[in-house]
Amino acid sequence: MKTAFQKLYERPPACMAEAPGRVNLIGEHTDYNGGFVLPTLIPQKTIVHLAPRSDSKVQLATMDRDGNLRRFHFLLGEEHAKDGWGDYVQGLTWLYAREGIKIQGFDAMISSHVPMGAGLSSSAALLVAFSRAIRQAFSLDLNDVQIALLCQRVENEFVGARVGIMDQMAISLGDQEHALFLDTRDLSSRLIALPWDRMDLFVINSGVRHRLMEGGGYNSRRSECEEACHLLGVKQLRDVESSDRLSQLPELYQKRARHVVTENQRVLDAVQALQKGDMKELGRLMQASHASMRDDYEVSVQEIDILVEESMREPQVFGARLTGGGFGGSIVGICEPGQARAVAQRIVERASRRFDETPSILVPE
Ligand code: GLA
Repeated sequence: MKTAFQKLYERPPACMAEAPGRVNLIGEHTDYNGGFVLPTLIPQKTIVHLAPRSDSKVQLATMDRDGNLRRFHFLLGEEHAKDGWGDYVQGLTWLYAREGIKIQGFDAMISSHVPMGAGLSSSAALLVAFSRAIRQAFSLDLNDVQIALLCQRVENEFVGARVGIMDQMAISLGDQEHALFLDTRDLSSRLIALPWDRMDLFVINSGVRHRLMEGGGYNSRRSECEEACHLLGVKQLRDVESSDRLSQLPELYQKRARHVVTENQRVLDAVQALQKGDMKELGRLMQASHASMRDDYEVSVQEIDILVEESMREPQVFGARLTGGGFGGSIVGICEPGQARAVAQRIVERASRRFDETPSILVPE
C-alpha cells in the first residue's frame, strides 16, 4: 500500500526522523537567565519523512487532525516568514544558508502528535525532527548540541520568539527514562534517571492555548529580567545567588527576579531529591515552583491553577505545577507509582466542572 508520502510525491521517502515533545519537571523561565532546568520527554512525537530534490524547491505537507492535507512550498534563498507552521522549516533553510551549510531542495511530509500551544514544545519538536531528517538526507556534519543551537536561532531570528535553549536541548539530548539536568549558561548537561519504582508522571493539557509570540507575555518577562539585571549590575540573573540582594529593586522587578533566583535553587534541590528517591521533597519543590510562577512571575492562568489545586486534593500526588512558558498550556505532576492514570482522570473530571475548557490527559498516553 502506498504511504501518504508516496501518494503525494510519487516516490518513496529517502529518510525518516522523529522528535518528541518535552515536559519540564522544574526550572521555568530560568533558561534565558543562564540558569538550570530539568525537563524530560513525552511519548507524543513529530515524524518527518523526507526525500531530497535536485533543484531548490521545498515542498511540505502535513495532515491535520481531520485528515485534511495542508501544503506549503518555497524556494531556497526566498524564505519569508508568514506566521504559519511553514516558517519553522523556512527558518532552518534560511539559517543553513547563512551558516554556509549546503543543502538542496526536498519534499517532506510531517505528522505530529505533539499538541500545539500546550506548553510541550511542539515547535522545537518540529524543528529538531526536521534538522535530523535534513542531517540524514544531506549527510551534514552536525552534532546534537549544534542542532539544538541552530533550532533556537530559528525561533529567535526568523520566527521572532525569543525562547531560551531548554526545549531544543531537551529534545535533542533527552529521553523518556531520564530528566536532563541542564546548565543553560555553559550547556553542560547530565541525564538523571527517573525512579519509576517510586513515582509516576502525569501531564494534563488545560485546553487554554498559548502562543509565545502573541500577547507578548513571554517576551515582556524576558525584558523585565534584563531590566532587573541592569538595575542590579549583573550580566544574568544566574549571577544573583541570594534573594536578599533583590530588595533594592522596584517591586515588579523584585518579584520577577525572586522567581528566577529561587527557581534555580529549587532545580538544584530537585536533582538531589531525585537522586535520593525522595519524591515528597520533589513534590514540595514543584508546589513551590508553581506558587512562584503564579505569584511572582505571574505566568499562570485560572484554569491551570484549578488543575494544580485539584491535583493537590489527591493524597497520592506528591506535587504538580504549571509546565512550560505559561499563559495557558499544561500541568505536570508526580504521584505514587502506577497511579497516574486514575489520579489524572479524577483531576480532569473535577476541574472540567470548574471551567469552560476541556482539559485532556496527555501522559500517561
Ligand atoms: C518556553 C521556552 C523555553 C523556556 C520556557 C519557560 O518553553 O521555549 O525556552 O523559556 O518557555 O521555562
